[in-house]
Amino acid sequence: MISKRENKYLEVKAARGSYGASLGRIVDFDKKTEKGKRFFIVDKNILRLYPGIKKKIGREPLFAFTATENNKSLEYAVKNILPWLVSQRVTRSSVVVAIGGGITQDVTGFACSLWLRGVPWLFYPTTLLAQADSCIGSKTSINYKQAKNILGTFYPPIEIVIDRTVLSTLGDLDFRSGVGEIIKVHLLQSQVDVGRLKENIGEVLERKPAQLEEAIRRSLLIKKRLIEKDEFDMGVRNILNYGHCFGHALEAAVKYRIPHGLAVVYGMAVANRISRIMGLLSEAEEVQMQELIARNFSLQNEARNAQLKKILPYMRKDKKNVGGNISVILTRGVGKMEKVVGVKPLAVKRAWRDIVKEL
Ligand SMILES: NC(=O)c1ccc[n+]([C@@H]2O[C@H](COP(=O)([O-])OP(=O)(O)OC[C@H]3O[C@@H](n4cnc5c(N)ncnc54)[C@H](O)[C@@H]3O)[C@@H](O)[C@H]2O)c1
Repeated sequence: MISKRENKYLEVKAARGSYGASLGRIVDFDKKTEKGKRFFIVDKNILRLYPGIKKKIGREPLFAFTATENNKSLEYAVKNILPWLVSQRVTRSSVVVAIGGGITQDVTGFACSLWLRGVPWLFYPTTLLAQADSCIGSKTSINYKQAKNILGTFYPPIEIVIDRTVLSTLGDLDFRSGVGEIIKVHLLQSQVDVGRLKENIGEVLERKPAQLEEAIRRSLLIKKRLIEKDEFDMGVRNILNYGHCFGHALEAAVKYRIPHGLAVVYGMAVANRISRIMGLLSEAEEVQMQELIARNFSLQNEARNAQLKKILPYMRKDKKNVGGNISVILTRGVGKMEKVVGVKPLAVKRAWRDIVKEL
């Protein structure tokens, strides 16, 4: 679908066929889809901030979506999105166009994977997190019965179109949430990557275009390598969950007042401290990793007030657990992550207490 002239950015190999990401503009959907065949699911904030989109969509079918974790649920998809696809008579020759962040992506991808056993969808990611991380990887994740991302499918979009200009309207916390996932993949990769990101983190946080672009491009390339080796998360891809066991639990425990990528930042700090407690990670290495992680600590008050007695039950419900035992991606240093089954709640408790003291 992407021609060479359209600034192809990235190509990802997947079981359903390769899909590409190109750079473009969110209003230029005429270049990719035909009127009469397309159906829009658009984040309400995007419709408000970019009235040109609404104008351009005109009378074409539009579902204005409120992007919240509560709406990223099975109940919402079943009660709202799927009936809309039915009422609009979306078929396998239609294209559903999703414009929004990771939440809009997850809900749209999930519904499209179910309806008629799969209708094509096109994704315009509008947050840093979605542009640097979630847009590739095939996963659609839905919250169910208070467990985060516990339901889902593997169903990539047919294509991704990335418009960097829309990042200018992203709020600071949502921007930092994206930086959280950028830091994570760099820590998964190599000392060289971590060194480069450490040098540039100030500029990235200030949204300086060149440094931000480099961090996004590198993040996608690191993730691409992992997902192409293990699209269905049977082995090596697991390490992308670094910071996620505690992070997901923290998010849920504070009722999603801490955005995903920022909770993952705390999750990485906790994973590192547990790794120290368990003798996997040296103090020097922890400090070295922490120098980068701590640059993106945000919402410290929310984090400090989060109660461990609320966090631990969510950790026990994590989908990566094995045989009822808490499983956490721990680390022996940069680029050396591994899944450890049977992490003791006491170790989590000690680690979180230490991290909170350092905030
Ligand atoms: N499927 C995957 O592989 C995957 C990977 C990582 C994270 N996720 C999921 O992604 C979600 C987080 O995604 P997110 O951070 O993109 O959140 P999001 O989609 O909720 O967007 C965050 C906020 O920013 C607003 N917004 C979106 N684009 C904007 C723009 N350009 N300007 C101003 N405001 C804008 C949204 O309306 C929302 O209020 C989590 O639910 C997480 O679990 C999924």
